[in-house]
Amino acid sequence: MKTRITELLGIEHPIFQAAMSWASSNAPLVIAVSNAGGMGVIAAGPMRPADFRNALIEIKQRTSKPFGVNIPLISPRAPELLDIAYEARIPVMVASQGGPRDHLKRFRAIGTKWLHVVASVEHAKKAEAAGVDALVVDGAEAGGHPPPSEVGTLVLVRRVAKAVKLPIVASGGIADGAGVAALLALGADAVQLGTRFIATPEASVHENYKRAVLAADVHDTTLVGRGKLPVRQLKNAFSAKYEAAERAGASASELEEIYNSSSMKKAALEGDVEWGKVEAGQSAGLIDEILPAAEIMRRLVAEAEGARRRLMSL
Ligand SMILES: Cc1cc2nc3c(=O)[nH]c(=O)nc-3n(C[C@H](O)[C@H](O)[C@H](O)COP(=O)(O)O)c2cc1C
Repeated sequence: MKTRITELLGIEHPIFQAAMSWASSNAPLVIAVSNAGGMGVIAAGPMRPADFRNALIEIKQRTSKPFGVNIPLISPRAPELLDIAYEARIPVMVASQGGPRDHLKRFRAIGTKWLHVVASVEHAKKAEAAGVDALVVDGAEAGGHPPPSEVGTLVLVRRVAKAVKLPIVASGGIADGAGVAALLALGADAVQLGTRFIATPEASVHENYKRAVLAADVHDTTLVGRGKLPVRQLKNAFSAKYEAAERAGASASELEEIYNSSSMKKAALEGDVEWGKVEAGQSAGLIDEILPAAEIMRRLVAEAEGARRRLMSL
């Protein structure tokens, strides 16, 4: 499957392993996906600078294929992380949360392709005007921070594909090759899967986290923090407490206190899947086994081909 994205980035398959704080804040998952012909993306957001630098060295030692780096640009630590990424001459940036304009010239000069994560038509147009190379479009099914508008992937990707000329990577709700084929049919040039890659030996989250993803059905996620920057996570004691406070009419500061009392780190590192933020997408309900990332890649490609043949035969 050759697309504008495989051509732009020099990858074999139009499939990204999404940046996931903690889960892909390490080298092994990224290496496995990139070596399997996809685009592995390291999530630098929660990483200590020295760990990030070392992970980039390890990735470059263990794969000669392209890989990506995700940095949330609004993070106070972004400037330092950007400098480390620049020094490592990374092939691909997948930036989120914040404007790309100030950084493009510097990274262009070293040949980095800049992809920007957007979750609305307005931000897609802005990123295009700023001069990025491609967009990642997140729909409401996505784990992590889906669009506050809660517009689903099927509709948002189609709308953005009609609104911009840039290549698009569709993200949110994809767990298998049927999903890959569906989003490519919709006009995307590649797809991105996050939650599917949590259920791998390579993902760096606690075993409890992986088991919680396997146990979840499609209706077992919720959006916590509507009206702010909502997070899609598995329903648990923390989300129930937050939502009960919301229903009881708690003030903004009371809700903020509850929101801040939990973290993804608590779930990802300590394995507390009741009181931590277990970020995961609705696609958790389509995932029922832990598989090596390379095997997931192999199946995605074979299943997408199968879906394509099925469509051709109709
Ligand atoms: C555990 C988790 C952590 C995430 N962390 C980040 C992050 O650090 N940066 C980012 O841009 N997106 C992040 N996301 C969003 C993903 O990049 C991607 O958009 C999402 O996983 C796609 O939906 P899916 O999980 O249904 O495949 C995260 C998602 C999950 C599930």
